[in-house]
Amino acid sequence: MGSETFNPTENPLRAGLRMGRSPEPCTMVIFGATGDLTSRKLVPALYNLARERRLAAGFSVVGFARRDWSDEHFREVLLNGINAYSRSGAAETALWENFAQGVSYHRSDFSDHDGYARLAQRLDAIDVERGAGGNRVFYLATPPDAYAEIIQQLGAHGLARSPNGGWTRIIVEKPFGRDLGSAQELNRQLLAVFDEDQIYRIDHYLGKETVQNILVFRFANGIFEPIWSRRYIDHVQITVSESIGVEDRGGYYDQSGALRDMIQNHLMQLLALVAMEPPVSYDANAVRDEKVKVLRAIRPIAPEAVNEFTVRGQYDTGSIMGKPISSYRSERGVAPDSQTETYAALKLFIESWRWAGVPFYLRSGKALPRRVSEIAIQFRSAPLMLFDDLPTNEVEPNTLAIKIQPDEGITLKFSSKAPGQTSQIRPVTMDFRYGSSFGVASPEAYERLLLDSLIGDGTLFTRRDEVEASWSLMTPILQGWAAEAPRNFPNYEAGVWGPLEADDFMARDGRIWRRL
Ligand SMILES: NC(=O)c1ccc[n+]([C@@H]2O[C@H](COP(=O)([O-])OP(=O)(O)OC[C@H]3O[C@@H](n4cnc5c(N)ncnc54)[C@H](OP(=O)(O)O)[C@@H]3O)[C@@H](O)[C@H]2O)c1
Repeated sequence: MGSETFNPTENPLRAGLRMGRSPEPCTMVIFGATGDLTSRKLVPALYNLARERRLAAGFSVVGFARRDWSDEHFREVLLNGINAYSRSGAAETALWENFAQGVSYHRSDFSDHDGYARLAQRLDAIDVERGAGGNRVFYLATPPDAYAEIIQQLGAHGLARSPNGGWTRIIVEKPFGRDLGSAQELNRQLLAVFDEDQIYRIDHYLGKETVQNILVFRFANGIFEPIWSRRYIDHVQITVSESIGVEDRGGYYDQSGALRDMIQNHLMQLLALVAMEPPVSYDANAVRDEKVKVLRAIRPIAPEAVNEFTVRGQYDTGSIMGKPISSYRSERGVAPDSQTETYAALKLFIESWRWAGVPFYLRSGKALPRRVSEIAIQFRSAPLMLFDDLPTNEVEPNTLAIKIQPDEGITLKFSSKAPGQTSQIRPVTMDFRYGSSFGVASPEAYERLLLDSLIGDGTLFTRRDEVEASWSLMTPILQGWAAEAPRNFPNYEAGVWGPLEADDFMARDGRIWRRL
């Protein structure tokens, strides 16, 4: 498996942060190309890569789906998607026309053998016409229940190996399984056809600049790492909140919930990046080895202990910024007696010398007052207070907040003397903001990840052992929750910071959630 490979020629900083990265020509086949993800995220990201001259001249896209669309109609839908969703605004005509020359539509059902045979012929033809050199990326932008069929068909039609000395990769969207067993099964299906280093499991959080900056912040600066441990850190809070309900995704979400949809992937990735040991290099496997180690060091929450270490909630009718929100159970696609959690909070402990005894509090929910993603490191208080007999617990502790979205940046809160004749102490902040410091818009997460997949850099993708380590922590929690139906759902109004139990959960430890 890939974890043992180490590439000594890869310069750490060039590998992950390199500037002039240009992939070889290739063909990207998007399964599910008439869907929402393709026109809202994938193709606008590819277009922006083309705009920045990051794609090779022979780059081509083949859209694979069921609808009876022509190449022209497919291109028109993609162009509308770019005009509506690209961060660079409406498409530039000449650039789009050039990009569109490589775009075509392949109509087939995922289960149709003949569709894959025709696809193989088509890819061979594109290799000749556009010089793609046999390089292929298959992108599974489909409902997850289609993954197994597509993977098996690709294998059966010899599409997992490239002709002409090219390479083949496969990108798998989230959700990657719904518990440990199903994630292991999907890994088995993938690995029966592809090698681990061909597989790119996407978690778009890892493509965000601010998330990549966690490692740069920790390991390109000398002053933070020495205090990054139980000796100086009291606890860590990781929050990913959304200020909308489930909108039109009720059918999907009701089968999923906050733990599966957000915590298993995005929040656990953030935790791993904040808590991992320094990797020996910025090589893809060296980074992922450390992330896996820290995930494996987390003490599992047994099903019987869920009430002690977790809180779950579901939103009721309420309002967010004056806009009325109806209760989760009345959303389209949601069961009227649904037990699915739209809010979850966990307390995790990492059993390592660095972190023993430091709680990591994770919370994520829908219909909360603000859309925020951040990691807050709260440091221990000063051991002794010299000023005006002020007890140390009345001085707010130092907090380092890594803000992932919105207001991307990093803030350090510390105490300062307020002007005047007394020794009044007030909290103040030192702020770094991406926008004002760099003056350029960050690329979209999908731009970074698609480019990495074309270059063959798996650092920001989740490896098999990583995804399984995360599911092995979540699965007992899901089992504990399933064993005891929540008695008081819905238990928080849309527009507040989750259920009251979440506050009590922190109060039991003498702590409070950050007010965001
Ligand atoms: N949308 C997002 O923002 C987002 C974000 C993160 C992750 N994801 C993940 O990305 C994946 C795709 O999401 P989506 O929102 O784009 O889904 P979607 O809008 O429901 O699109 C599904 C696509 O799959 C095709 N399809 C379904 N069954 C098929 C079959 N039997 N044969 C051929 N084509 C078939 C559909 O084609 P036809 O309609 O032509 O039949 C359509 O192109 C999902 O796994 C989702 O969880 C989505």
